[in-house]
Amino acid sequence: MYSQADQTPVERSNTIKLHDEAAFAGMRAAGKLAAECLDMLVPHMVPGAITDDLDKMAREFVLDHGALPACLFYRGYTKTLCISTNHVVCHGIPSPKTLKTGDIANVDVTVIVDGWHGDTSRMFAIGEIKRRAQLLIDTTYEALMIGIKEVKPGATLGCIGAAIQEYAEARRYSVVRDFCGHGLGRVFHDAPNVLHYGNKGEGTELREGMFFTIEPMLNFGKPSVKILSDGWTAVTRDKSLSAQFEHSIGVTATGAEIFTLSPAGLHNPTA
Ligand code: MF3
Ligand code: CO
Ligand code: CO
Repeated sequence: MYSQADQTPVERSNTIKLHDEAAFAGMRAAGKLAAECLDMLVPHMVPGAITDDLDKMAREFVLDHGALPACLFYRGYTKTLCISTNHVVCHGIPSPKTLKTGDIANVDVTVIVDGWHGDTSRMFAIGEIKRRAQLLIDTTYEALMIGIKEVKPGATLGCIGAAIQEYAEARRYSVVRDFCGHGLGRVFHDAPNVLHYGNKGEGTELREGMFFTIEPMLNFGKPSVKILSDGWTAVTRDKSLSAQFEHSIGVTATGAEIFTLSPAGLHNPTA
């Protein structure tokens, strides 16, 4: 079920890797750079911005800091960022398209620093956005933070999912089922799968030294998604608005350490 990460091959495994203090230090550096990359983008997330230009800015920022963009050439993906606007749930591909006033956009970046992965995403408001869009964004951010609050040794993955699901559904949003959070560390997508719905007390027990992401996607309408013919872009089937936030965290003796906190305090740049 669990294995000591430093005695386990650097590859996706079915055991959940447990990491030591040196690994926490590695994740702190990776998480910080990923968050700083999103901080850097904040002033550029404006009407008229070309999403490919934002991607180039992020790629150069990551490379200039001696890191690697994890998504670039990952499973055939050719960009540094995923930029997912409006009814795009996740994995939107940067392109010559521009951002428009009133759009809501998720930007997701993963960097590799000294072999460690920092994976984070936030929502951005492009100019003035509708009040209902703002409420969806704020609820999704709170859902992420409420999930993180559940994290401590002895709690289970189900406690995280249940907390997120209850919070979202009480506000009449739906939780996307087709994508989940994931273990990470020296591996980008590792065990366990971190579902954003579930039942308290069910699923794998959390232990000190586990690293994983929590990245809930909430929809204004129904939860179902489809993948466009580019093989990546996931959209809501009913075209309803979707929002997502993501942090990479480590389980400590008493709770969670968030590796991807924004040094500039821009955790929800729309707020
Ligand atoms: N960063 C995404 C995640 O949260 C993964 C993107 S995979 C890509 O796990 F290839 F589309 F970049
Ligand atoms: Co991500
Ligand atoms: Co992720």
